Amino acid sequence: MEYLSKNQRVNALEDINLHINKNDTILLKGRSGAGKSTLLNLMCGLIKPTSGKVIIDNICINELPDDRLSNLLSEKIGIIFQSFNLLPTYTVYENIEIAIVPKGFKVSLVKEYIMSYLEKFNLKDKAYLLPTELSVGQQQKIAIIRTLIKQPSIIFADEPTGSVDEETAGEILTHLVNFKKENGVTLVIATHGNISEEFADRIYTIENGRIKTEPL
Ligand SMILES: Nc1ncnc2c1ncn2[C@@H]1O[C@H](COP(=O)(O)OP(=O)(O)O)[C@@H](O)[C@H]1O
Ligand SMILES: [Mg+2]
Repeated sequence: MEYLSKNQRVNALEDINLHINKNDTILLKGRSGAGKSTLLNLMCGLIKPTSGKVIIDNICINELPDDRLSNLLSEKIGIIFQSFNLLPTYTVYENIEIAIVPKGFKVSLVKEYIMSYLEKFNLKDKAYLLPTELSVGQQQKIAIIRTLIKQPSIIFADEPTGSVDEETAGEILTHLVNFKKENGVTLVIATHGNISEEFADRIYTIENGRIKTEPL
C-alpha cells in the first residue's frame, strides 16, 4: 500500500497476507508509524489498496460501488477510531443515536437501548453533555458504545486504549471481551502495546509495513 502525497511516495505496507477467522480476536502490534492504522483502514474499506485485495465474507470490498460499501460498513462492520471521531456539536446521546437510527431500531426502544449501554459503561449521567465535557477516557468509551450498539459482526479498533490510563484500558478491554462473549464478533485491535495479550487468538507484529512475526 503506497500513499502518494505531493511529490513523495510512502510505502506504508508491503507483502501483507493476512487471513482472519470469524470470531477470532486479532492483535496487530507495532510501534508508531509501523502501518497499523493503514492496515485497519484498508481492511474496513476506508482506503483502497494501491495493489492487492481485501476480501470480507467472500466479497472483495475494493470492487464494491460506494453505496454497497457503505451498506456493508453500516450493517456488518464497526470501527473504533484512534481519534474517536465523535461529533462535537452533538450530545453523547445523539452521537450514539445516529449510529443506530439507520439500522431501523424501533424509535420507542432506542432511548431505553442507548441508556442501557450508557449504564453498563457507568456513563448514564453524561448522556446530555457534549463530548468535550467528558474526559478522554469517557470519550473513548462513548466511541466504543457507538460501535457496539450497532451489533457489528466485525470490529476494527485502532488503539482503543491508546490515550487512557491503565485502569481504564483494562475496563475498555473487558467491555470488548464481554461483548464478544455475549454476541460473537471478529475483533481486530491495533495497539502499540498496552493491551493484554491473553485475550488474543493471534498476535501479529508489524514493523516497517511488514508483518514481522509469525502469528502466535
Ligand atoms: N494519509 C497519509 N499520507 C501519506 N503517508 C501516510 C498517510 N497515513 C499514514 N502515512 C504513513 O504511512 C506509514 C504508516 O502509518 P500508520 O499506518 O498511521 O502507522 P501506525 O498506525 O502504526 O502508527 C507512516 O510512515 C506514515 O507516515
Ligand atoms: Mg495508528
